Amino acid sequence: MRRAALGDIDAIVDLEETAFPADPWSSVLIEEAVAGLLPTTTFLVAEIAARWVGYAAVSVVQDVAELQRIATVVAARRTGVADALIDAVDAHAGERGAERLLLEVREANVAARALYAGAGFTEIARRPRYYRDGTDAIVLERSVRMTP
Ligand SMILES: CC(C)(COP(=O)(O)OP(=O)(O)OC[C@H]1O[C@@H](n2cnc3c(N)ncnc32)[C@H](O)[C@@H]1OP(=O)(O)O)[C@@H](O)C(=O)NCCC(=O)NCCS
Repeated sequence: MRRAALGDIDAIVDLEETAFPADPWSSVLIEEAVAGLLPTTTFLVAEIAARWVGYAAVSVVQDVAELQRIATVVAARRTGVADALIDAVDAHAGERGAERLLLEVREANVAARALYAGAGFTEIARRPRYYRDGTDAIVLERSVRMTP
């Protein structure tokens, strides 16, 4: 796990479009975030044996961190990449003083909901028709615990 660098932008943009076809972040937004131009947002990337396998984006504002994006390349799914990215996000959030880690997930995203349940997140709110296609968002939270 490491912070994203400019050389990761193309891979992030590609995976963003695969993983979030309904509402991908634009390449401009991703470039700005990786370049450090968005004051609260950090991209972390995961590599296994020099193979690029996923990324997460986290925003930290005072005591609250928000997991904004997380995705694993299809070929590496169900190998623990997202779990490891959540650990890295947690460590980043804790280093910056966050105590709570929040996120939004589509109600129908079975894989992500199982991932988050396993990582200790619990539901704190629902946002009806939150997404462009009319799907509800579920807001989840867990404590930041600085995973060793
Ligand atoms: C959701 C996503 C990030 C999971 O990534 P991953 O690297 O495959 O997840 P992990 O291998 O770390 O899985 C950890 C646990 O999450 C759960 N999980 C992950 N994918 C699952 C699936 N497809 N079905 C059921 N449970 C799943 C399992 O409990 C899994 O543990 P196990 O493999 O020991 O059973 C990945 O499917 C993805 O990129 N999806 C598209 C983008 C997305 O939806 N992001 C979340 C937006 S809120």
